[in-house]
Amino acid sequence: MHLGAAWYPEHWNEERWETDVRLMKEAGMTVCRIGEFAWSTMEPYEGGYHFEWLEKAVTLLNRYGLEVVLGTPTAAPPAWLTHRYRDTLAVDEHGRTAVHGNRCHTAANSQTYLKFCRKITGEMAKRFGKDARVIGWQIDNEYNRVDYSENSRRQFQHWLKDQYTSLDALNSHWSTAYWSQTYSNWDEIPLPVGAHNPGLMLAFKRFVTHTWREFQKVQIDEIRHHSLPSQWITHNFMGWFDAFDHYELTADLDFATWDWYVGTGHHDFTKTGAAHDLTRGFKRKNFWIMETQPGWVNWSGVNNTLNKGEASAMAWHAVAHGADAILYWQWRSAQGGQEQLHGSLIGADGNPRPFYEEVKVLGENFAKVSEVIANTEPKNEIAFLYSYDARWSINGQKHHKDFNSIDHLMRYYSPLAERNISVDILSPLANLSGYKIVVLPALVILPDVTVENLTRFVESGGTLVITVRTGMKDTHNSLFDTLQPGKLRELAGAEVEEYYALLDPAPVHFRGNEQSIEEKIIEGKSEMWAEALRPLSDSTQVLAHFGESNGWLDGKPAITLNPVGENGGKVLMIGAVLDSKAQSFLIERILREGGIEPIYTEGKTGVEVAKRVGKDGKTVTLVINHTREERSLDLKELAGQDLLSGKSLSGVISLLPYGVRVLI
Ligand code: GLA
Repeated sequence: MHLGAAWYPEHWNEERWETDVRLMKEAGMTVCRIGEFAWSTMEPYEGGYHFEWLEKAVTLLNRYGLEVVLGTPTAAPPAWLTHRYRDTLAVDEHGRTAVHGNRCHTAANSQTYLKFCRKITGEMAKRFGKDARVIGWQIDNEYNRVDYSENSRRQFQHWLKDQYTSLDALNSHWSTAYWSQTYSNWDEIPLPVGAHNPGLMLAFKRFVTHTWREFQKVQIDEIRHHSLPSQWITHNFMGWFDAFDHYELTADLDFATWDWYVGTGHHDFTKTGAAHDLTRGFKRKNFWIMETQPGWVNWSGVNNTLNKGEASAMAWHAVAHGADAILYWQWRSAQGGQEQLHGSLIGADGNPRPFYEEVKVLGENFAKVSEVIANTEPKNEIAFLYSYDARWSINGQKHHKDFNSIDHLMRYYSPLAERNISVDILSPLANLSGYKIVVLPALVILPDVTVENLTRFVESGGTLVITVRTGMKDTHNSLFDTLQPGKLRELAGAEVEEYYALLDPAPVHFRGNEQSIEEKIIEGKSEMWAEALRPLSDSTQVLAHFGESNGWLDGKPAITLNPVGENGGKVLMIGAVLDSKAQSFLIERILREGGIEPIYTEGKTGVEVAKRVGKDGKTVTLVINHTREERSLDLKELAGQDLLSGKSLSGVISLLPYGVRVLI
């Protein structure tokens, strides 16, 4: 397990460097990330490469026992480059060319830019690829820019030609006869600006994914060509950011990392765990937090600080969800850069800030658990299937302004997190063996391979939960010629007779588990969206009905359950977007149907209990108090040795505000 920070030695005189590295060491840091914006220092003039300073920084870090992650600097090209080669600059939707100086202003698919990126990365790899002091590479920084230049448009047209082969196929999949969009020449196809044809919009998102993947591949190839097999390659993603399909981009990386910032406000572990789980799910591997905020940021409405202790609880929370490293951004702010007021560990005066002390304690604690926690990972029985295609499709046709795919996913995620039940978030193509419950949060686009995957899952005894808006469209973003959930209708034993965006919530009468007579009928509400279900088979049970609302919904089934096959498989169709009380009730029912027992319900009181498990069965339990108050907790069968205090703990224990126990 690593602790570290992003350091920019190029901002400072070399005489200062050793003080910084000594302070990193004293804080318990084991890794340092450097280089990712330093192109103008590495190549101050075209073809003039200067890596001596970088070599010195690596040597110094190594002398203090810190390993190095080297960033390629392609998110911040030097001014001579963009000035001399104008076609490297990105163009926005309105045709405006970016100006130099604010990073990420280049076009990832400019051939000229790619040539320079290949060259600088190759030169770095020649110099550091065989240097074991460098443990890994970060390519670029937070890919984000989309280019709308003529060059981009031409490339998009070529890409479409590869995808669709014929214009007839494209015209048919996109229904282009509508509003006379029919294309008779590939050159006629535009880039979508604003709302546009759904097929074109989805294809463009996939093209952007392809563009970034190619951009990344150029650098991966250069590094791989020169590097030691032990050096890994990654990129720092941005959680739920959706400009491209992260499953595709991470396919070429060794593991994923992400940059976790709270911005204004405070961290809520019943929500933030989802972005960790998402990132872990990209490769189904542990991940790194490549950046996180040391107290505060500089870019939000109110850049409030995290409470004292909160950042540590966040660090442990990330570890609980599979992070193997926590790196703060940044070590010290440049005196003149755009991010002067961002939180850091070292102040403008060159001395540690108050926050440094919190990191130091974290460093001591990481050292205590590092060996035990190595090679362990979260192990879960519930998977959520997340699809960028589906999210893009809904964003293009929201139908209700407040319908947000991630918020919708969170309606299922948070009640589970409150029960300390952790989940995996996976691609719809992921192998689902080993899971008891699979949830489809608004999986509007439903490819045939996903239907096959889910059918296998249910037939082998799994419980599938199909939520609203699922199974409406094909992979071209075109409506199916059947009702929702498309080819899952038979498996679900139900279909969506009609969907409705709601002005006012619709009542839902939810009948409890009929087997337990003491449970009463729950009265809930469906918010913003409702789907009237129609059972398709005799085996389909109706678990909830809509009450009186718009007339169309009145009395219609809102939730159904269909038992499938001999192995105990089940499909729940959820036609309602329930208020939190009814949703909580539904979650209990889903857990019962899937055979999962919530053990620790302390999450509701702000205490997280999570486990990491090794291949040898070794289990490490993290107990984290995410509140500012003391909390107590009955450890029950979690009793064991706390690696942080060295004490054996059992029965009811108390946790200090933001306190943590790591039990084996
Ligand atoms: C991003 C970037 C960093 C820095 C931080 C500030 O995550 O990757 O370089 O700008 O934001 O919060």
